[in-house]
Amino acid sequence: MSKFQPVRGTQDIFGDDSLKFHKVMEAAGRLSTVYNYQCLMLPVFEATEVFARSLGETSDVVSKEMFTFETKGGENVTLRPEFTAGVVRALISNGMQQNLPLKFFSYGPVFRYERPQKGRYRQFHQVNFEYFGNADALADAETIILAAQLLSDLKIENVRLHINTLGDKESRKAYTEALVKYFSEHKERLSEESKIRLEKNPLRILDSKDEGDKALVANAPVMQEYLNEESKRFFQTVLKNIEIPFEVIVDPRIVRGLDYYNHTVFEFISDSESLGVQNTILAGGRYDGLCNQMGGGDIPAIGFAAGIERLMMSLPVTDTDEKMVAVISDNNEKALEIVTILRQKNLRSEALFGGNFKKKVQKADKISATHIVFVFEDGLEVKDMKSGEQKKIPNLDNYEF
Ligand code: HAM
Repeated sequence: MSKFQPVRGTQDIFGDDSLKFHKVMEAAGRLSTVYNYQCLMLPVFEATEVFARSLGETSDVVSKEMFTFETKGGENVTLRPEFTAGVVRALISNGMQQNLPLKFFSYGPVFRYERPQKGRYRQFHQVNFEYFGNADALADAETIILAAQLLSDLKIENVRLHINTLGDKESRKAYTEALVKYFSEHKERLSEESKIRLEKNPLRILDSKDEGDKALVANAPVMQEYLNEESKRFFQTVLKNIEIPFEVIVDPRIVRGLDYYNHTVFEFISDSESLGVQNTILAGGRYDGLCNQMGGGDIPAIGFAAGIERLMMSLPVTDTDEKMVAVISDNNEKALEIVTILRQKNLRSEALFGGNFKKKVQKADKISATHIVFVFEDGLEVKDMKSGEQKKIPNLDNYEF
C-alpha cells in the first residue's frame, strides 16, 4: 500500500464513479441551458467574511466547518463551503444587479470540515442553481420543478420533496419570539448547544439532533400559526404550482442549516439504502434578504444545490445505454482512420492496436464494447455485441449504432 493516501474526508473519483459523475454533470449542464441559466465559474476561495456574514455566525458551517487560513500576504480566506454566498458576491462585485433577472449555474468542489461518514465528505461537489430578481412565488415553483426534473432525468427514484415556509420577515419575527418564549420556559432541559442557539438563532433548535431537544421540539409552537396572510398566500401559490413526479410533503421541521432563507425552503430526501442517514440529496430555498445584507441592495433570490456524490449514490444501478464501438484491424493505420470517422460522429469509440486479432477481440470485450467494427482488406463488418449479429457494410455513413 502506498505511503500516501487521500486526506480523511476526501476521495479520488475514477472508473464507474467517474462515469456517474459525468452523467450527473451532463444532466445538470443540459438543464441549465434548457432553463436559461448562464454558467458562472467562481474562485474556490473567498474572503472569509463572504461566508461568515451570509451563512450566519451560529450555523454549523461557519462555527465549526470552514477551512479557513491566512495567505502569505495576510489575507483571511476560506475554501468555499457552498456556492450561494460566492454567487451573490460575484453578482454584486461585477455590478450585474443592473441586468436582472439573472440565473446562474455553477458546479465544482466545496469544502466542509464535517465528521466524514457514508455520503458525507470534507471535500465534495455540488451543482448549484441561483435565480435573482424574481420575487414571485411562481419563481419558487419553477425552481422546484427544475430540481425535480434534474432528479427524474437522472432516473432517481424513491425521493420525496419536503417543503416548508419560514414566512416573510414579519412572520419569522413573530414566530421567533414565540419560540424564544417557549424554549426559555424549558431552558434547563435544552442541550448546551441549543442553549446557545436560543440566544443566537432559536429556529435552529428545531432541527437539533439531540434527543432531549427533539422531545421539547415536538410540543413547540409551529410556524404555520404565525404566518401572516401574505406569507400564507405565497406558500399556497408555490404548493399549487409544483407539478412534479415526486411525493410532496409539507414538513414544518425543514428549517435549513444556513441563516439566509425566508419563505420557501425545501429538501429532496431519498429512501435509497445506499445513502444511509445522509439522505438529503438536493436542498435550497428563497433568500430575499441576502443581497441586501451583503451590500447589493434589495434583490429577491431563490436557488438550490445538489451534492453530486449523493446524486451518484442514488443513480439506478442498471443502465448504461452509452454505446462503445471498438475498431479492430490487422492494419492499425486503417483502424485509426475508421475510429476517427466514428469520433467525428460523436460516437464513443476506441481502436484496439495491440496484440494479434484474437487478443484484440478479447480486449473489446474487456472494455464493454457494444459494437465492433472489423476493418478487413476488402471492406467493413459490424458486430452488434448484444444480438451477436455481424454484417458487412459498404461504409459508416448509413449504419445506425
Ligand atoms: P446545503 O443543504 O448545505 O445547501 O447543501 C446542499 C447539498 O449538498 C445537500 O443537500 C447535500 O446533497 C450536499 N452536501 C452537503 N454537505 C455535504 C457533505 N459534507 N458531503 C457530501 N454532500 C454534502 C447549500 O449548500 C445551499 N447553498 C443551497 C442553496 C442554493 N440554497 C439556495 N441556493
